[in-house]
Amino acid sequence: MSGTLVDLAYLAAAVLFILGLRNLSSARTAPFGNLLASVGMLVAVLATLAVSGVVDYVVILAGVVVGSTIGAILAVRIQMTAMPQMVALLNGFGGGASALVSAAELLRYARAEELPGDVVSVAIALGALIGALTFSGSIIAFAKLQELMRGAPLTYPGQQVVNALLGLLTVGLAGAVILDPLVLEPYWGLMGLALLMGVLLVIPIGGADMPVVISLLNSYSGLAACATGFVLGNSGLVISGSLVGAAGMILTKLMCDAMNRSLGNVLFGAFGAAPTGAAAAAAGAQRTVKRYTPEDAAVIFGSARSVIVVPGYGMAVAQAQHAIRELGDVLEKRGTDVKFAVHPVAGRMPGHMNVLLAEANVPYDKLVEMEHINPQFPQTDVVLVLGANDVVNPAARSDTSSPIYGMPILDVDRAAQVMVIKRSLNPGFAGIDNPLFYNDNTMMVFGDAKGTVLKIIESMRDV
Ligand code: TAP
Repeated sequence: MSGTLVDLAYLAAAVLFILGLRNLSSARTAPFGNLLASVGMLVAVLATLAVSGVVDYVVILAGVVVGSTIGAILAVRIQMTAMPQMVALLNGFGGGASALVSAAELLRYARAEELPGDVVSVAIALGALIGALTFSGSIIAFAKLQELMRGAPLTYPGQQVVNALLGLLTVGLAGAVILDPLVLEPYWGLMGLALLMGVLLVIPIGGADMPVVISLLNSYSGLAACATGFVLGNSGLVISGSLVGAAGMILTKLMCDAMNRSLGNVLFGAFGAAPTGAAAAAAGAQRTVKRYTPEDAAVIFGSARSVIVVPGYGMAVAQAQHAIRELGDVLEKRGTDVKFAVHPVAGRMPGHMNVLLAEANVPYDKLVEMEHINPQFPQTDVVLVLGANDVVNPAARSDTSSPIYGMPILDVDRAAQVMVIKRSLNPGFAGIDNPLFYNDNTMMVFGDAKGTVLKIIESMRDV
């Protein structure tokens, strides 16, 4: 295949990636966006395989078969709630692959005793630095989310100083690689230090902030791929790497904004160290809540004209999305207006609630975003908070000492009646108590989200 044809194929792939990303920005068009981006990747892979210089097609085919088999098994078996750690692993492998490719290219230059150009030298250093850091950082993020290691931030005195000094040393080694790439010792030192930095930078970050870290590492894996694209002189890799890098950065910013926190606070604030779950539950233990049964809940729903459902992480854990859709259908048949309020960081990953509700065939026009639904709560008869906690915590609005103060929330407490379904008074992700549970207009229906909603539906049939 001629160079021009390959470049045209990469251009077509880039256009497909951009159109794919465009379509991924809405739940309605996301499956089509996914398809477009996948076709783009297929075009890019085929064009790369057609380039002369491929050493061994059999090895490549074997890699494709083994990789696709593992990928397909994981994709089918993985629980929706474990998706963040799966993404962490994939980012890590992406970063690791980029670092290995940059190393292989450097060794090729060294063996041929041929000095790479300046751009390639810089790219080789960046590929090793960002790729190795992404690999080890992602493995730690995976281990925290999979509970293979403690999620709490791991801090020690002087940690920032140690990290800063190691950071300086890393930059120095990268400089040495760029100045004289054919001396390999600084390169291996850079690779080792970058691996260490990935570990050291992620251990002080609490499990609660892992989704943001994963999004950032996703962006890094794109930047590492982009650097590798320069090393190989492959424009397809440069374009796709920069798209992943930019998209990951934008997503990281959106997540930080939705929690009203700066990236610096997420990375260096050791958030989640102070209030523990048990302490938070104890904080609320002295106050009383109003307990209701699923049968009581059915009676309340029976007379409601408008209901807004606020799903959260507990809905995902209980896999209650189908049950809540069924309850919505039952209510609508009785003439009740039903909507779903989606907070941007409800659950554990971006779009978590949208994906689950779409899987349960909740119509897209029933899903309302935070800024549009908030003015509607005061005119709503019943708000059903289903396994959500932090995203409806009014302390974020009023308690300046709260760790989540300033985080935009769904103003459910302004509705006439709030019904909360969860298993206990235990806190959510942020590990803090929720004053909503003790309000006069809040009724607590304790139980598993799915089982409780199914009981309510059963009781409604009798009402
Ligand atoms: P959370 O505040 O984490 O609360 C979830 C609640 O679900 C828990 O309080 C838990 O209470 C309940 N629950 C767990 N299993 C349940 C089950 N089987 N049935 C019923 N309830 C169950 O969730 P949220 O309101 O969705 O907030 C998300 C949090 O994650 C925020 O703090 C957000 O900042 C953070 N976060 C999210 C993201 C993204 S991108 N989504 C990224 C970074 C951070 P019980 O144990 O009492 O049942």
